[in-house]
Amino acid sequence: MYDEHTFLTKIARDPKFSMEFLDDLSLAGGVSRACIKNTRVMDEIIKQFHTYLFGDELEQLNKSVYDCLIDKLKVRSTTTNIVNVFDYFGEMMFYAAATTLFGKTFVEQQPGLYQSYLEFNHALGIILMKIPMQSFFLYPVIKKRNEYIKRFENLKINDEQSKIVQARIEFFASDENKDVFSKQDTSASHGLLLWAAVVNTVTNSIWALVDLLIHPEAISAVKQELKTIDINQLYERETLNKLQILDSCINETLRRTVLSMSTREATENITITDSDGTLIGLRKHDILAYPSLVKHYDSDLFPQPYTFQYNRFVKEQHQQNGKKIPSTIVFGCGKRMCPGRYWAVNEIKMLLALVITNMNIELLMDESYRKKLCERLEYQYTGVLSNGGPIKQHHDQFKIKYSCRNIDVN
Ligand code: HEM
Repeated sequence: MYDEHTFLTKIARDPKFSMEFLDDLSLAGGVSRACIKNTRVMDEIIKQFHTYLFGDELEQLNKSVYDCLIDKLKVRSTTTNIVNVFDYFGEMMFYAAATTLFGKTFVEQQPGLYQSYLEFNHALGIILMKIPMQSFFLYPVIKKRNEYIKRFENLKINDEQSKIVQARIEFFASDENKDVFSKQDTSASHGLLLWAAVVNTVTNSIWALVDLLIHPEAISAVKQELKTIDINQLYERETLNKLQILDSCINETLRRTVLSMSTREATENITITDSDGTLIGLRKHDILAYPSLVKHYDSDLFPQPYTFQYNRFVKEQHQQNGKKIPSTIVFGCGKRMCPGRYWAVNEIKMLLALVITNMNIELLMDESYRKKLCERLEYQYTGVLSNGGPIKQHHDQFKIKYSCRNIDVN
């Protein structure tokens, strides 16, 4: 359906509609149906997301990501290197999130964790296709999935972990839950948390960087804005909030790169009335989809919708024109709306700010391809929830030549 008002106010809030998609994801990721369908347990897990990914805890997460990124940028030499922007920053962002959530020691004890996560992500995509004769075709896929999950076995609480991971370890092992979570449920849940934290953030942060690199007017506006803050305090809430142009750039990238579509499944036969009075009859198990990505490309709301207009979401700009900025829905909606949304945007902001401040980057892209990307981004539609990065035959267009300036941080 393409009726945002009805979807947001009636369907997303109505307990008669469930989010089977998230359940399917957890099942595909290796969590048992018994766990997923345990309402008490799921309510507590969702509550934990809202306790530990917001407020003061969010500031801790930001600080840790900042430290990880600085660490990576510090150890790089000042010599010039050539790498692929998606491979290089993809790994960097992945490890910043993994270290922040699970701690440095865990990450150091897991060689090949990034590669294993990539294989897990690929496996999830295949399992979700629900191909018949699963056991035969899916054997190697399930093997890869389980190799990733196994890395999270026997996690014990330690000081390096984020509060959310500590809370989950305690919760899974508590007396009241020890019969609910098997060993596999526990490790799959940890693995899925890391997957959820990086699957969209990593690719989209790099598209945001690419958007800046191919639009000189945007990068120079961001550079000006960065001069107004103390980069050593970048991770602080007030500093991040000041970066309104950078925020607009990120929103503008996400509008075009997140393959956003919200779905809800009817848990009983139900009739709803949409905004123009049309009655829609749904049978139990019917799925209703609201494709917000169609809105994101609506030229009445976003003129020249395929192009990157870095200040499209800058509030002052719109107040001057007397218009309201149209909203986007990249993080879902309702009770199950993405709880990591603030952390995700902060992570992307910190990556972009640190890269612009501390690195010299030249994008080694053909001029004709750059112009093509400026007219319309080209990416793979194959990712689970997320776009899959550049299309294969153009991967090499995303090489960069970079060197790091000497970082002088407190
Ligand atoms: C650009 C980055 C991100 C995007 C676009 C994104 C998008 C989404 C979407 C669309 C959903 C499903 C919600 C719905 O359909 O209503 C979701 C769920 C979720 N996201 Fe994100 N997300 C991002 C980053 C993150 C981060 C950094 C975390 C950190 C842990 C995170 C954790 C989660 C979790 C745990 C759920 C499941 C919530 C539940 O089960 O109720 N996400 N995300």
